[in-house]
Amino acid sequence: MHGESILIRRAKIVDGTGAPWFYGDVELAGDKIARVGRCLQGSEQRGARVIDADGRVVAPGFIDIHSHSDDTILVNPRAESKVRQGVTTEVVGNCGYSLAPLEGEALADIKRDLEDTGIDVRWRSFDEYSRFVEESTTAVNIASLVGHGTVRRAVMGCVERAPSREEMERMKSLVEQAMAEGAWGLSTGLIYPPSCYASIDEIVDLARVAAEAGGIYASHIRYEEDRVVEAVEEAIAIGERAKVPVQISHHKSGGVQNWGKVRATIDLMRKARAGGVDVACDVYPYTASSTGLSVILPQWIFDGGVERAVKRLKDQSVRERIRPLVEEEEGRKRGWDKTVISSVTREHNKRFEGKNLMEIAAMTGKEPFTAALDLIVDEMAAIQTVRFGMCEDDVEYVLAWPGASVGSDASVRAPYGPLGRGKPHPRSYGTFPRVLARYVRERGILRLEEAVRKMTSLPAQRIGLFDRGVIRPGTVADLVIFDPDKVADTATYEDPHRYPVGIDWVIVAGRPVIEHGEHTGAAPGRVLRRGQAV
Ligand code: CU
Ligand code: ZN
Repeated sequence: MHGESILIRRAKIVDGTGAPWFYGDVELAGDKIARVGRCLQGSEQRGARVIDADGRVVAPGFIDIHSHSDDTILVNPRAESKVRQGVTTEVVGNCGYSLAPLEGEALADIKRDLEDTGIDVRWRSFDEYSRFVEESTTAVNIASLVGHGTVRRAVMGCVERAPSREEMERMKSLVEQAMAEGAWGLSTGLIYPPSCYASIDEIVDLARVAAEAGGIYASHIRYEEDRVVEAVEEAIAIGERAKVPVQISHHKSGGVQNWGKVRATIDLMRKARAGGVDVACDVYPYTASSTGLSVILPQWIFDGGVERAVKRLKDQSVRERIRPLVEEEEGRKRGWDKTVISSVTREHNKRFEGKNLMEIAAMTGKEPFTAALDLIVDEMAAIQTVRFGMCEDDVEYVLAWPGASVGSDASVRAPYGPLGRGKPHPRSYGTFPRVLARYVRERGILRLEEAVRKMTSLPAQRIGLFDRGVIRPGTVADLVIFDPDKVADTATYEDPHRYPVGIDWVIVAGRPVIEHGEHTGAAPGRVLRRGQAV
């Protein structure tokens, strides 16, 4: 038994299924929900602690199906920016990037990625990573996918070529082992080296290994702009061929010329489902995305790894070769002013945080193209951006599709300490309350119960977390209590490190982590392993 016995009284219960709310009480015993009902009797006599919800909503804790807290949860195990939104489970290992298994170049590269965090990278296998997370005692639960980019990097390095037969076998066995050690599926990041160098056949073969172990296939698809329709077709084809449930990550269509294409892509998903392919997606409630500045470069630049890339980018003839393409995409089509630098690693570049590439060009007296490439070189590609490229209509359209979960695509942050640096995308702090405030209360795009379903039972079912995501006796007591009239995000692009309001209680495995809006310091989170009963 973990935690204490708690009785939540007089709540509007939004049970996660999408069914209309009802007034009732929820009784927790240890880490489970023991009883749900109207006017439950007897629990006070048994010494239960009583929380009077006073008509506020009690819902299952939110499951962030698309998180990147793999390392930041180790830096801030309190999970500040996430748990304060009501998130109780983070699904990490997304976009092809997981922190295990580590060997070969994957080990060297991840050691370099984590250099500044002070994290001692002493795990190798997926199981060892999971135990490392467990030992750091986290406020929220962590479930991880295994990243294709990490696996490919481990076996082949960062190279633009097909794997040999032996390499393919080695990758399969690494995926198989990670699945046996509790991974929930395989993820790809098909715009990021080295994941992007994989053919569809390679992905199908690896996704099949995940599928045979009961896992899913989550994908940052190959294109999210001009060729987004083809990319969704590829993801569906992978689902069909590998017989694996497909989760299309952070679904969107970027670039003015592509606005509206989500109608076609959602239609493709609907038709695929009608034909028996289990495909769905997730979405974050913002019109800006966030990723590394290096995505402006053609992918071959990274063939051979980041050092090779930087060497190439110092070569003027290489710059001239890629200039027309980058100028066309970033300058003419997107607009240099639409990409804002959110974080850098080097002190002398801090002045660029919060500035767009047009402004940085003016500050440095360079052309935007040169300013951007110089920054990539100077930062060894470790430079993050916020990019404005989507339209509100598309965000609403995807969000309204019943198959779309809410996922932040963000990592744990905190306004203090190392995670308080820079101007990260506000989704780290605001995703879930923003859906409830803006899309439920203000715009009326979703019913409250439907929005909650997209944050709870739907992502739980996609991942395979069948003991969570609904309020029912016997499920794990991960819960959130919020005021539906007050809940709101306060984080903005200019001022992102701000907690939301209106979320009063967050309970993880029966223990309050947020109490009257304050963090208790409790760390009841667990590493959730597929195939292991809780
Ligand atoms: Cu992602
Ligand atoms: Zn992604």
